[in-house]
Amino acid sequence: MSRVFSGIQPTGSTHLGNYLGAVRNWVDMQDSYDTIYCVVDLHALTVQQDPAELRASTLRVAQVLLAAGIDPDRATLFVQSHVHEHPELSWMLECNAAFGDLRRMTQFKDKSDQAESGSSGFVSAGLFTYPALMAADILLYDTDAVPVGDDQRQHLEFTRDVAERFNNRYGDTFVVPEAFIPPAGARIMDLQHPTNKMSKSADTDSGTILLLDDMKKIEKKIKRAVTDTDGEVRFDVAEKPGVSNLLSILGAVTDQDPTELASGFEQYGPLKAATAEAIIERIRPIQERFREFEADPAETERLLAIGAEKAQQKAAEVLARAKNNLGLLP
Ligand code: TYM
Repeated sequence: MSRVFSGIQPTGSTHLGNYLGAVRNWVDMQDSYDTIYCVVDLHALTVQQDPAELRASTLRVAQVLLAAGIDPDRATLFVQSHVHEHPELSWMLECNAAFGDLRRMTQFKDKSDQAESGSSGFVSAGLFTYPALMAADILLYDTDAVPVGDDQRQHLEFTRDVAERFNNRYGDTFVVPEAFIPPAGARIMDLQHPTNKMSKSADTDSGTILLLDDMKKIEKKIKRAVTDTDGEVRFDVAEKPGVSNLLSILGAVTDQDPTELASGFEQYGPLKAATAEAIIERIRPIQERFREFEADPAETERLLAIGAEKAQQKAAEVLARAKNNLGLLP
């Protein structure tokens, strides 16, 4: 059975972009692949975190994943820092990654610009080497496919390059993975700034639908979503980014084509109402299940411990292969 691996950061709250671009595909893939999903808390450390908040949000994101339908009987769900093989392999990959390639990563450029202009002005070295840790996550499991949103495309290319270089230098060690970027929902945009992607780190939360937002808030955010003044419902990302984003969201949630959907609406009001309703219908049961997991954190911790044990067995095997091929003494 082909192996699937993917990860999500525990910072901020899980939003509709995470769900439509990644998590719902993770859920679907459980039926036909050997799936491994990870809450990447070590990646979150690339920017300074409040320890209590990091601890709480790591558990919360795991609970959101469980509530969204990740089934620990079928998938392996774990927390990155519970499997020490990740940072260990990351170092070996850093030593086989080109400095110039890391420097070209657009996410590094964006995040370091943001950090530099922020209150601390501090850009960590971890922010720069972040893609090597992500490559380690993926390569440790002999992963065939990585379901991610469009913004991770460049990191996946980097992962493939490092794997190929390592294999060329030290003999066949890693499976070279493919990105799986879904045809719909791979790039959900901010509702207030529809030329920017929907993001956990947006300056205001009015452009981001959180999976745990209450229903009234979701309605309000969609109602206030930026459109334009020409009044025509048409799917045209370049000319009408706001309206097209609503059509993309509605299309992704209801499995319909956004261009075809557009012909069913003459005004923005009904489009917004239909979009809000579809989102709410999808999110409501997730929130209900979330409350159950939230009420029993010990159970979530138990499931994560089982997940870490399963993950580590595989990771240890691949790490041993890499160490041996590099010439490290057993
Ligand atoms: P993260 O935590 O930012 O996002 C998790 C997943 O959500 C997708 N995503 C989106 N999809 C559509 N529209 C959006 N607006 C949107 N925003 C986010 C992301 O593409 C991602 O699939 N570096 C990764 C985490 C990671 C990882 C890995 C992923 C670490 N190791 C190994 C895959 C494999 C990240 O920061 O995702």
